[in-house]
Amino acid sequence: MITLENIKKVFRTKEVETHALSGISLTVDKGEFVSIMGPSGCGKSTLLNIIGTLDTPTEGKVVINNSEVSAMTDKQLAIFRNLTLGFIFQSFHLIPALNVLDNVELPLLYRKGVSAKENRRRAEESLEKVGLSHRMKHFPTQLSGGQCQRVAIARALVGAPSILLADEPTGNLDSKMGDEIITLLTEINSAGTTIVMVTHDSRMAEHTNRTIHLIDGQIL
Ligand SMILES: Nc1ncnc2c1ncn2[C@@H]1O[C@H](COP(=O)(O)OP(=O)(O)OP(=O)(O)O)[C@@H](O)[C@H]1O
Ligand SMILES: [Mg+2]
Repeated sequence: MITLENIKKVFRTKEVETHALSGISLTVDKGEFVSIMGPSGCGKSTLLNIIGTLDTPTEGKVVINNSEVSAMTDKQLAIFRNLTLGFIFQSFHLIPALNVLDNVELPLLYRKGVSAKENRRRAEESLEKVGLSHRMKHFPTQLSGGQCQRVAIARALVGAPSILLADEPTGNLDSKMGDEIITLLTEINSAGTTIVMVTHDSRMAEHTNRTIHLIDGQIL
């Protein structure tokens, strides 16, 4: 489902060159729940962003669902991302001016050929899955951190992506809320979504099928 071949990423500024990833090869099978762990600055987010086509490698090949992503134009990539991938982040990235339902519906507005009514239905269904049907008309500032992350998960899942990418999804939450999020992700994985999750927390990683340890841009 996801194949990386000898991925290298160098960030160049005027003064310094940072070798964030130094030859990563990796396969994630359909239905897996994989965690990525390692010290701060070892390249975890860079790796996840490259898998998510949010960033491009300096060298190497990325194949997702049999498509080589480096061969795609920006426009093709945007469509591919919208249809195939869901993202969640440590800081939720909800839009403060939109209520919960509108936040969740947002990714669907970039798709064509589906009625407004159907989009709304899908957004409501997605919120039901994360247990937040009763908060649809609330705004992000009126929710707890755990609830915000659940809204972000509903938004990531609304388009039925085959892969969910999560960068420290429990990083801003206390342990109880973190546990709730991990339980939810485990359920989502059991229902068929492949998940790749970056985490600092070995307790969270224990819930996954496999842990990849990164050090200095390399797999240990
Ligand atoms: N846009 C950028 N420009 C220059 N250097 C960058 C850029 N993004 C990341 N880096 C560098 O690449 C390395 C890897 O960064 P990355 O964000 O992937 O680490 P990380 O493992 O996610 O760390 P953390 O656990 O703190 O989130 C770091 O040394 C970082 O400073
Ligand atoms: Mg990071």
